[in-house]
Amino acid sequence: MASPLQSLLGNESSYTKSFQIFLDYSTEHQCMHEFIDTILQDHLTSIGNDKSELNVLGIGSGKGQIDLHILSYLKLKHPGVSINNEVVDPNVEHLKSYRELVAKTPHLENISFTWNTMTASDFKDKLDKETEARKFDFIHMIQMLYYVEDPGEVIKYFHGLLAQNGKLLIIIVSGNSGWERLWTEYRSQLCYTNANHYVTSDDIMKTLDTFGLKYQHFDIPSTFNITECFGANNEIGDLMLDFITETINFRATAPPDLRDNVMALLRHPDCSLEKDEKFLFNNTFTAIIVES
Ligand SMILES: C[S@@+](CC[C@H](N)C(=O)[O-])C[C@H]1O[C@@H](n2cnc3c(N)ncnc32)[C@H](O)[C@@H]1O
Repeated sequence: MASPLQSLLGNESSYTKSFQIFLDYSTEHQCMHEFIDTILQDHLTSIGNDKSELNVLGIGSGKGQIDLHILSYLKLKHPGVSINNEVVDPNVEHLKSYRELVAKTPHLENISFTWNTMTASDFKDKLDKETEARKFDFIHMIQMLYYVEDPGEVIKYFHGLLAQNGKLLIIIVSGNSGWERLWTEYRSQLCYTNANHYVTSDDIMKTLDTFGLKYQHFDIPSTFNITECFGANNEIGDLMLDFITETINFRATAPPDLRDNVMALLRHPDCSLEKDEKFLFNNTFTAIIVES
């Protein structure tokens, strides 16, 4: 029987809305900023080989908040160098917000932006048609490998485009996060598009090991305050549930057993910490820095 559930990924504006609620109620971006400020910035110094130009590629950049933070450090570490920043994301609304953010952010001179409203695989096809081979000094894939058909192939292809001394940054939910716990239990019932949506840092590091690539990884604790999920008639809670389950209107459309079991697991100590009457979902993620 066809699943009554509709994938959130097929509906751009629903996805954009739920993702924004996730960002508003989680420490995701704050923790990424701290990681960039404390760890990543040192890794950005050695890229580029003293060239007068740096080529950067962001895949699945979303609204660009994290990209601009990384770019500010690239400017700082490589003063006077021009930066070509290639942006790839199929979500029109996200790229519109990214452009608006660029328009109002000062000190972006020396950085040019090329917008590619397309998936990683369409961008690969675009590059394959170009006559001159492209190389990038820094590539990032931040919280996006869930959405590609074959994460291993995407990593292999884009890693192959790194210039000498280049680096690839992958950020993905951690193998010890609440996400992993939820997916282990309910992947088969929630999985109605393609199985690769449920990758964690453990899967990615196994893939990198298989390819024989050298990398360092950093687990970054983060939480998602999901308390609103447990209130009645709560639009914010509904959007949170949609993001967590990648389903449009999960509360209303999921079979009652599945809905109740998922909700019970979300508040279980395996997934969330209960503190001051709040449920803080374990949103730990892992940043992996891969050498060229
Ligand atoms: C969870 S958001 C992360 C956005 C941003 N990197 C951040 O951390 O704020 C995932 C992004 O991946 C994009 N995306 C979805 N499928 C993609 C694909 N096949 N190739 C590239 N990006 C994709 C989505 O449109 C969305 O902007």
